Amino acid sequence: MRAAGRLAADVLDMVGEHVLPGVTTGELDSLCHRYITEVQHAIPAPLNYRGFPKSVCTSVNHVVCHGIPGDRKLKAGDAVNIDVTVIKDGFHGDTSRMFFVGKPSVQAQRLAQVAFDGMWLGINELAAGKRLGDVGAAIQAYVEKNRFSIVREYCGHGIGREFHEDPQVLHYGTRGTGLELKAGMTLTVEPMVNAGKPNVKLLPDGWTVVTKDHSLSAQWEHTVLITPTSYEVLTLGAADRES
Ligand code: MF3
Ligand code: CO
Ligand code: CO
Repeated sequence: MRAAGRLAADVLDMVGEHVLPGVTTGELDSLCHRYITEVQHAIPAPLNYRGFPKSVCTSVNHVVCHGIPGDRKLKAGDAVNIDVTVIKDGFHGDTSRMFFVGKPSVQAQRLAQVAFDGMWLGINELAAGKRLGDVGAAIQAYVEKNRFSIVREYCGHGIGREFHEDPQVLHYGTRGTGLELKAGMTLTVEPMVNAGKPNVKLLPDGWTVVTKDHSLSAQWEHTVLITPTSYEVLTLGAADRES
């Protein structure tokens, strides 16, 4: 799981400098696909997963998650989440980050920051003996205090030999409730935060999830190992691994 997590993070480290005006989301997908298969000798988990046609998800602006890479050209001011999942030696590593094309609006920057801080507040709840409701409650309280909303229809998940395993990791909830965490579990924390209402809509392509009110949405994701007293984030980028 450590190896898979590191590779997934390495893909995001690689692709960041290519998120520029004029590049298409399909080109970003190709870069990631080639890096995962040719450099990392790993497998891009999304490709053909339940029929998903590409190797990463690219979710731009009001797209909440599962955006399909294609001909869309990025332009200055766009905010894009790139979600990478690799399989290495049978294990999955799953992580996503927000990237800005040129200079973001004040609102887009604040939304991405609140989603990022919310994810970390949730991660900081993780330890053996804690409950999943502690994670969701921490994220929900922070996001709603900042007058943004948490998407309910999609959640984090256990991860390991399978892409999506039990338990579901809700990004809202009540302290002291839900599954008790045990050392050795691996799961993702990946809150989707909307600038407007929490409601989402699935587009006819069967994958792309957008905000119903077309407000901006932001998401970050890490894969995390539960330890006896705390946690270990398996998908830190190189810059965060150093410290
Ligand atoms: N990577 C997403 C997650 O965090 C799942 C993408 S499923 C796909 O769980 F098929 F769209 F790739
Ligand atoms: Co995930
Ligand atoms: Co993911």
